[in-house]
Formats: sequence, C-alpha cells, structure tokens
Amino acid sequence: MLQRILSLEEYRTAYKNSLEHSEHFWADVADNFLWKKKWDKVFSGGFEKADYKWYEGGKLNITENCIDRHLKLRGNKTAIIWEPNNPTEKNRIISYNELHAEVCRLSNALEKLGVQKGDTVCIYMPMIPELTYAMLACARIGAIHSIVFGGFSAQSIADRIQDAECKWMITADGCYRGEKQLHLKKIVDEALENCPSIQKSIVFNRSDFPVSMKDGRDVWAYELLKDCSTEHVSKEMDAEDPLFILYTSGSTGKPKGVLHTTAGYMVFAAYTFLNVFQYKPEQIYWCTADIGWITGHSYIVYGPLLNGATTTMYEGVPQFPDWGRWWNVIDKYKVNIFYTAPTAIRSLEAQGLKYLEGKNLSSLRVLGSVGEPINEEAWEWYNKNIGKGKCPIVDTWWQTETGGILISPLAGITPLKPSYATLPLPGVEPILVDANGIEIQELIAEGNLCIRKSWPGQARTVYKDHERFIQTYFKTYPGKYFTGDGCRRDENGFYRITGRTDDVIKVSGHRIGTAEVENAINEDPSVVESAVVGYSHEIKGQAIMAFVILKSEAALKIKLNSESEFLIQKEIAGTVSRIIGPIAKPEKIFFVSGLPKTRSGKIMRRILRKIAEEEFDKVGDISTLLNPEVVEEIKNLVSK
Ligand code: WTA
Repeated sequence: MLQRILSLEEYRTAYKNSLEHSEHFWADVADNFLWKKKWDKVFSGGFEKADYKWYEGGKLNITENCIDRHLKLRGNKTAIIWEPNNPTEKNRIISYNELHAEVCRLSNALEKLGVQKGDTVCIYMPMIPELTYAMLACARIGAIHSIVFGGFSAQSIADRIQDAECKWMITADGCYRGEKQLHLKKIVDEALENCPSIQKSIVFNRSDFPVSMKDGRDVWAYELLKDCSTEHVSKEMDAEDPLFILYTSGSTGKPKGVLHTTAGYMVFAAYTFLNVFQYKPEQIYWCTADIGWITGHSYIVYGPLLNGATTTMYEGVPQFPDWGRWWNVIDKYKVNIFYTAPTAIRSLEAQGLKYLEGKNLSSLRVLGSVGEPINEEAWEWYNKNIGKGKCPIVDTWWQTETGGILISPLAGITPLKPSYATLPLPGVEPILVDANGIEIQELIAEGNLCIRKSWPGQARTVYKDHERFIQTYFKTYPGKYFTGDGCRRDENGFYRITGRTDDVIKVSGHRIGTAEVENAINEDPSVVESAVVGYSHEIKGQAIMAFVILKSEAALKIKLNSESEFLIQKEIAGTVSRIIGPIAKPEKIFFVSGLPKTRSGKIMRRILRKIAEEEFDKVGDISTLLNPEVVEEIKNLVSK
C-alpha cells in the first residue's frame, strides 16, 4: 500500500525530494499499485504543446486497483455506505466483494450490449450505488465515462453528449431529493431527441415513477444484468488511455470536456486522498459532494476506493427532513473524516445550533473544505461546533483540471491558518506571477496562481480540442499552467486562494461561466443583450447578477404595468434554467437601457463587478466609455 507522510519534517523532506528528483518521487508513489506491466518512462513532454505524459508504456486497469486488489485481505470490508434520501428507507452497505460482483456484472452487461474500449458513455444518475458501479464498469472495460451532474437540463445533457459523441447513455427512471421527486428519465428522453449518436440507453430502477421505454433504444438495467456473470477480466489499458471526460465551465464559450487519463489520475487521486485526510484503515469517510462534479469523482469514488477505504454516499440534501440530517448521518455511521463545501457550512451555520443538539459527533477526526474560498467566520464555526476544536480542517484547493488536491494542509501535520489552503503537496510547485507574467520572488506576495511543472493528475486535454486546451491554460503565462485563480502568500509561504480572476464564478461552489449564462439569457424572446457578473453572497459565496437590455415590447410592458417586471424576470430565470439548469439562475436581474461599453463595443464587466459589489466609488474612470451615462443609471438600480 501507499505510504503516508507522518510528520511535518517528513513532509518537508518529501517536498524537497519531490522537486529535486521528481521522476524518482513519482515512480516511488506509483510503485504501490497493481500494474499489468510497469511503465517505461515516468514522465515526458511539457507545457508548450501540452504533450506531457506520465507512466508511458505502463499497462493497468484502475478498477483492479480500486477493487480486485483489496479482495484477498478486505473482501468483506465495507466499500460503500449508502444513505438514502429518506431516513425511513433502508440504507445499503456494500462490501468490496459485493462491489466487485456488481461492477463485474455490469461490465459484462455493457460488453454484451456492444460497448467497446474507447467508446464514450454519458452517465446521468442519482446518487445511488449504481452510479458508482456504472463509472467503474466503464473504466473496467475501457469505455470513457462522461458524468453529467443531475442539476443540469436536458439541453445541457444533449450538448455534452453531442460534444463527446457519446454512443451510450446510463440513467435511472427517477430519484428523490428532499421533498422533490425528479423524473430523470423524462429529462434524458428530451435530451436524446437531439442525440442520434446514442445507440442504447440503460435505465436503472430507483423510483416507482412511470416511464416510457423507447423500443430499440431503452433497456432496463435489471433485464440486461439478469444472466451476466459476476466475474470479469478487466481490459488492459495504457497508462495514457482516457479514463473520463468531465465538462466544466470556463471564461468563454461552452463548457469544456476536460479529459483525464488512467494511470496519472489514479496515482494522484490515491496519493492525495491518503495524505491530505491522513486516512487510516477502518476509518469511515464521508464526502458530501455529488459524483457529477470532480470532487465526487476523485474523493467519493476513486481516491477512497484506491485506498481500500469505506466511503459514504448520501442521496439527499442537507435540509431533509431537517437541517440536522448530516449530523444524524455522522452519528449513525460514526464518520471519522467529513469533507464538504463552505456554502454548506454557511447554510448550516445559519440554522443556529439547535440541530446539533443530541447529535454525537465525537467520532470526527478530520474535517475538510473544498470548492470555494472559506471565510474565517465559517472556518471558526466549523472548527468550534463540528470539530469541537479537536479536528484539523483541511482547506483543499484544486480544480477539475488538476484531478486532485494541489494545495492543502495534511491533516494534523501542517499548522493551520483559517482561510489558508497553506502548503502545496509534495510534487506540486505553485508560483505567483504578476500581470506581466513575471514570477514574483518575494515571499509575501499577491498574484496570479500558476503551477510550474506537471503533476500526474493533470488533465491532458479538452476533448477533441487540444488547441483550446493550450490556449486556455498555457498561453496566458507561457511555460506555466495558469489556474485562473488569484492568490496571496504569507510570511510562512502559506497560500490563500482569493478567488477567480476570470469570468468564472463559483455559485454555492458550482462552477459557472458568465458567458454561458449570458448566452442563455440572450435566448429569451424578451431580451436584446445581457451582461452577467458574480457578486458576494452571504451563503452562496457568490451569486449571479444579470443586467439585461429588453426588447422594446417587453420594456413597454413594464412601463405600463410594474408587475410585469417580476414576470419577465421570472421568465428569464426560467429560460436559464431550461437551457443550463436551475444552478445557473441569476439571483438578481436588472433591466437597463444600456451596458457600459468601450468604444470598440466590448462590455466593461469590470465596472459591473464593482457596481454589483456596491463598491460604487471604485468604478474607476468611465470617461472613455461609449456610453458613460448608463453607469449612473445602473448604480441607482443596484443601490435601491
Ligand atoms: C475554487 C473544485 C478557494 C477555485 C474542486 C478553483 C477554491 C475552482 C478551493 C475550481 C479552496 C476550489 N479555496 N477556492 N479550497 N477549492 N476553489 O473545477 O477558484 O469545480 O479554481 O473544482 O474552485 O473549481 P472546480
């Protein structure tokens, strides 16, 4: 098994070693896995063409490392604890032996259907164990999974299927989230109307909602699985064979299909899980993310299973049946490691302490935070009320593109500082650059966060668009990977991530591109043009503010009847929800007569951002604008 770093001194030695003898370091880490054939070369390539490769020549299957290798010693150990949405429903406890049988059965079923190595498979599933089986079965037969988060609309699913040319779909009839019943199959049916590349859609049964099955396309999973064996010989994969695609938002255009490959991702997910959380065998681990995001991929499924850990999957929401649910779950399973997002912490904090009464949280050893900057107040609340001052909080900074955690304390080892992600993991070299791309040498500094060299978990490309990949990450500051984040470094060399410097916003930790939202708003029949920015929100971290120019008929309607304003706002929010999904709905929509533009017609989002934050005196020089008068109008609207 992988070796854990056990002290700060060991960390410092490992860090130094990892930079001085990088290949040696990463070869040592990789040695702890099951390889069908060892690699020929640890690392090659570079950032210029983004052609870096890890463990080239190695042959393996990641699912043998997630499952098969644990069977001999830990076959009966719990791999997955599944907690249903409704506490009155029975939970499911899945051992490594059972996980093996289920993944093998589904692998056989997929192969029987005709799924082949290299095929892309779209997965749109609720948080049920079958989602994990589906992703692992894909990995076992060499198919590339592309999981779409359950909060995305039919159109978003269709966009992702078309972009990745998925041949296969895996979904469920429906699911339960809090009080809500979600008809997943219906959403998928709508998406598939525009997706001729899909040959078959496999439907798991989770609900009793009626569904219509399309002849020749839709297959019930239980029918397909009926006669399939629970043994399966996994496909031999090359180290650099694609493992999955995950769509994520950027500054411009449509979401990008970030591609991760097999060996490097595996090594990195496992290594970071073990070291950051300081996971010990027999501990119960729970990450509250959704598997539809990278956090779920790396730290509900791959990272924990690669370490033979017990990972918890919760189907529901934190407030169902009441805001004490998560504490109940921790108490019920005696969770030792708990990993969640600042937004959730702030929502729970807002409920007061009454939901904590009578809940035994004494099993907790380590707390984690991910997805957005954690403010000091939330950090202190989490520390005091959940960790009872005894659990280190690991504030983990990373991205969909990084595959795993890059900067974070190692629990119980690295000294903590609220709202600081602290130090890089061994093997990761962060640097700060100024606006001109010059590396800032001073220790205490603020700048743009870049990473100097590749690490195994780094994304390899944007699916079918390598040029966009190079442009997005390696052209702003040539020779470096640019993260898109701003960052501060203190006198101890601790890093504090201050947030995105581009047009990406983090709404409740969900990553959303302003351009995407603008495009969706502009589809609305009442709209001429729009500009979207993020602004600080007490619970969500950031929320979306939209400035919209209406067509004259709609504008007239509002003039004649002030109630129409609300109706048109609602309609626009509905349009965004239909096109992207409810997570991208603007929190506030203002109707304006114009948007601040440069003489060449570019929208000055910088000005709108300041106005949205109500930093009216920081709007700066507006004299060069094409239409400076709108700035006053917009200020007045927002300040009302
Ligand atoms: C932000 C999520 C501050 C950051 C794993 C990054 C964070 C983006 C932290 C990636 C953190 C993530 N502190 N900011 N601990 N973790 N971020 O791809 O802006 O959904 O660039 O990956 O989230 O978001 P993504």
